[in-house]
Amino acid sequence: MFFINLIVQLFIQFVDLYYIVIFLTNAKMKSSIIKKISMALSGLFLVIFLAQHLAINLTSIIPDGGKTFNTISHFMGYNPVVQFILQPILIFGVCFHFIMGFVLEYQNNQARNEKYIYHKTRSSWISKNMIITGLVILAFLGLHFYDFWVPEIEYKYISQESPDPLKYFHELKEKFYGETIRTIIYCFSFILLGMHLNHGLASSFQSIGVSSYRKKILKLAANIYSLIISIGFISIAIFHYFIH
Ligand code: HEM
Repeated sequence: MFFINLIVQLFIQFVDLYYIVIFLTNAKMKSSIIKKISMALSGLFLVIFLAQHLAINLTSIIPDGGKTFNTISHFMGYNPVVQFILQPILIFGVCFHFIMGFVLEYQNNQARNEKYIYHKTRSSWISKNMIITGLVILAFLGLHFYDFWVPEIEYKYISQESPDPLKYFHELKEKFYGETIRTIIYCFSFILLGMHLNHGLASSFQSIGVSSYRKKILKLAANIYSLIISIGFISIAIFHYFIH
């Protein structure tokens, strides 16, 4: 028994060594793995951003006349660490994730075209269309920046108006109250964002080499997280659409 166990262990070690040698000597494979891991890490960074963004925006539905939301938004808007360190890192993270997503999609398409063979996989619509859900999120971000970020930059750096700690809640309400088309576009984007997050999180765990035992728990966590993000943002948009 001990002997068989030893042989099996040696065989496993040998296979591991074989893959390590292949990895180190194959530049193409190495760069593809590095790209996948960096895609996963930038995605996980955005996952943290989304959680804090949802938490802050949820304070806008607290029935205190926008006091909590205004206080937090003002702090975020004028704190030098947030503005000059965290925000540039966030913008870099968003750009990196999108550019790397396009590069990986292009390379995957090329690899498929080279082989001329299409394997029928059982992968879901979401996993096959991450680029489409990603593009919808990118388009949403364009609209979202136009709605909130551009006016903020204009207010602070172009018109150079003095800080107004009470303006944020009113500005947010104005964007949604009775604005049917904008609210529908936002909610539709949040549904696709949930799908993108669900598959993205699960595959990022795979890219960073989580063991299959933990994978089940993490898949459940990915389901719960993406549902909370999607339903959370939808609730905020619908709340402000109906309630003034
Ligand atoms: C109903 C849902 C949402 C609301 C009400 C909302 C609200 C806001 C507001 C008020 C700002 C301006 C912050 C500032 O003053 O600079 C902002 C910025 C931003 N939002 Fe959202 N947001 C929502 C959903 C999302 C989603 C789903 C994403 C990502 C997919 C997102 C990504 C961003 C980014 C990247 C910024 C710029 C960075 C920053 O200023 O912190 N937002 N959002």
